[in-house]
Amino acid sequence: MSPEAAVSVPGKAILLGEHAAVYGYPALVTAVDLRLTVTARVTGDGRITVDGSSEFRTGAMSAAEAMGFSGGAEAPGDRLAYLACGTALAHADAPGGTGLALRIASDIPPGAGLGSSAALSVGVVAAVFTALGLRVAAGTIAEVAKRVEARQHGRPSGVDVEAVLRGGTLWCRRTAEGTLACAPLSTAQAGLTRLELYHTGAPAESTGDMVASVGLLREREPRRVNAALASIEAATLAARDALAAGLDADRALLPLMARAEAALEALEVVPADVARAIRAIEAQGGAAKVSGAGGRAAGGGLVLVLPAPGGAATVPSQWKRLHARLGAPGLLEDVAA
Ligand code: MEV
Repeated sequence: MSPEAAVSVPGKAILLGEHAAVYGYPALVTAVDLRLTVTARVTGDGRITVDGSSEFRTGAMSAAEAMGFSGGAEAPGDRLAYLACGTALAHADAPGGTGLALRIASDIPPGAGLGSSAALSVGVVAAVFTALGLRVAAGTIAEVAKRVEARQHGRPSGVDVEAVLRGGTLWCRRTAEGTLACAPLSTAQAGLTRLELYHTGAPAESTGDMVASVGLLREREPRRVNAALASIEAATLAARDALAAGLDADRALLPLMARAEAALEALEVVPADVARAIRAIEAQGGAAKVSGAGGRAAGGGLVLVLPAPGGAATVPSQWKRLHARLGAPGLLEDVAA
């Protein structure tokens, strides 16, 4: 039997810059140490099977449907995992009879703004390449995983894939050539220690739905949306400078998080009850913002909370605190499965 490749990938949190990143504005992102593990073994039976946690067994799609892979497999499994597997096999120009058995386990809650789909795309692509005996550059994994993300939700900026692949805390911005350039912000750790992560409930809308709804709003109300995007950009640039200078979160992030949150509310990506809870945190002297795509009706996904200096934040009882280190390592290969 061929050896099993095993990789692990963290989740991500967008500190500042979500939605604006889709339009080429910069973003600050950090890897969250909740990890997804993928193992892949070449079986040679022309079938692709996924036998991970139940979160990843919700759909059914063959790799042939996904990317024109000609192995003829029709196994049930998660659509995104098949799509990622099929995309990696197509990129590797793998022969039609190549079969793969994937196993996926994840601590990253889906629908929580924590990059579970980016982690799954990167994890499956990396594990498939390794199982095929290919040593590929991180840039190639990123390129293939971004193709998967693009099929999944239309217009991704690529920051989620970069965050989970590279790990640490990254400053990402689009270059004049239109590519996404991300650089580590190694001094950021001091600014992140007091940040708390809360899962406020999975939104009914997908990331693609939220990105599309901001796009529609921009067509209808370009002035409002462009002003909000510019405000997010200003907050992101100021946060990058403060974190680069090694400032702590109280001085670096408090007003900038509030500014970005106000802009996200103008983009209509914060459900009303989440916005009300954030007003209460602000009244306590703290700040909070939605992180990731957000939601419209109920469930805003991930919310980052910075309690008032020296204090604690009171949040709604239904918000679930996630205890995970920020600035975590990115893709790790050869992990214990
Ligand atoms: C989703 O995590 C972040 C968005 O900005 C979309 C993207 O950047 O691809 C909403």
